[in-house]
Amino acid sequence: MTSGRLAERASPAAPPAAVPRVRPATPRDLDAVVALRIALLREHPDHPIYGRLRPEVDRHARDLFAAQIRSRMETIFLAELAGDVVGIIRCVESIGSPLLEPSRYAYVSSAYVRPDVRRRGVLRALMAEVERWCRARGLDQMRLHNVVGSKTAERAWDALGFAIVEHVRLRAVTVTR
Ligand SMILES: CC(C)(COP(=O)(O)OP(=O)(O)OC[C@H]1O[C@@H](n2cnc3c(N)ncnc32)[C@H](O)[C@@H]1OP(=O)(O)O)[C@@H](O)C(=O)NCCC(=O)NCCS
Repeated sequence: MTSGRLAERASPAAPPAAVPRVRPATPRDLDAVVALRIALLREHPDHPIYGRLRPEVDRHARDLFAAQIRSRMETIFLAELAGDVVGIIRCVESIGSPLLEPSRYAYVSSAYVRPDVRRRGVLRALMAEVERWCRARGLDQMRLHNVVGSKTAERAWDALGFAIVEHVRLRAVTVTR
């Protein structure tokens, strides 16, 4: 019996799945942030909002994301696997309506994980860090928008405990220029 247990322990086991390392982005990460955020925008080419990329999106993206990395009101978190940056999420300390509680909440956006490492808990690891960030700032609510019709996004946010409480509707207006 004892030797059997020992034999079991000694048999080769599958290597443990790598645990993502999550850290805040710094100005040195700008290239990685731009690459992941643009990849996210290109994930939904037919979407009426995210599918309408401006021609100079890469140049504008650098300035915009550099300012976001520097901002004290928000944090961009990056996830690494084996030293490679594979995932991103952004959280912004946002002001609520003066008529409603809470007065401040965390707005979560730009969740993206490289396709080759999806379903390995990268988003879960990013969100665990976002939750710690919220607690440290005394924010007791997170909000986000997700693309309608993306089963992956819907299932991921359901699994991570986000309820649907509002729908964003869009209607085009014909403008004569
Ligand atoms: C959505 C996205 C960020 C999820 O990242 P991920 O690292 O693969 O997610 P995780 O592995 O941490 O999954 C967390 C949970 O979400 C659910 N989930 C994630 N992807 C899923 C899928 N394709 N089908 C069903 N459930 C899924 C699962 O319950 C999963 O837990 P489990 O694997 O233990 O069952 C990733 O698929 C992605 O970048 N998609 C394209 C961009 C996008 O849609 N972003 C969201 C914008 S709102």
